Amino acid sequence: MKKQTRNLTLALVAAVSFGTFGGQAAFAQQVQSLRGAPVDAAEPATPAAHIRPDGPAIARDYVQQPPLIPHKVEGYEVTKNFNKCMDCHAWSRYQEFNATKVSLTHFKDRDGGELSNISPRRYFCLQCHIPQTDAKPLVDNNFKRAEGLR
Ligand code: HEC
Ligand code: HEC
Repeated sequence: MKKQTRNLTLALVAAVSFGTFGGQAAFAQQVQSLRGAPVDAAEPATPAAHIRPDGPAIARDYVQQPPLIPHKVEGYEVTKNFNKCMDCHAWSRYQEFNATKVSLTHFKDRDGGELSNISPRRYFCLQCHIPQTDAKPLVDNNFKRAEGLR
């Protein structure tokens, strides 16, 4: 009889512990993203992408491509009153900073007229030029560099 009581107690303890862990497992399985996709809570989070460190110019993939930015741009102000990019990329400054001068196409107004300073159409540089991160591409692609640039 005494032995039976002890066995029963052990069985109860086992049942309670199983219930606890079983409950946690069920909870983990129920985690969902805000859009309803299931999330594997055991999977480590994707590491945040980092802007690649400053480096030399990045080869272009097609002739009319806006060159990619090979340096950090965090904190560079481009507003109505001030354009940080032109601090180094203006024709009057580029030599001092060893930067590429803005393309002469950036001085044309929308009717093809030549301006004496950067065109308003080309003022917001980050519309077209973008810095690069070390993030893995979300989708594979087999784009090949234009023939004349290989
Ligand atoms: C402190 C100076 C400085 C500032 C400010 C700066 N750049 Fe640059 N940038 C450089 C230098 C130097 C290079 C050239 C790197 C090389 O070729 O080795 C460069 C390269 C580039 C290139 C690549 C050019 C090519 O021919 O491939 C682009 C595009 C560019 N910068 C855009 C920008 C934009 C857009 C901003 C503002 C958000 C900006 N830069 C601000 C110094 C600067
Ligand atoms: C509407 C898109 C657009 C905007 C805005 C723009 N660019 Fe460009 N940029 C281009 C394209 C496209 C090219 C390559 C073809 C060419 O030279 O026009 C280029 C070329 C360049 C080059 C390389 C020039 C060379 O001689 O190889 C630099 C440097 C540059 N841009 C800097 C800037 C800066 C700085 C700004 C902001 C003041 C800016 N761009 C705004 C599209 C743009």
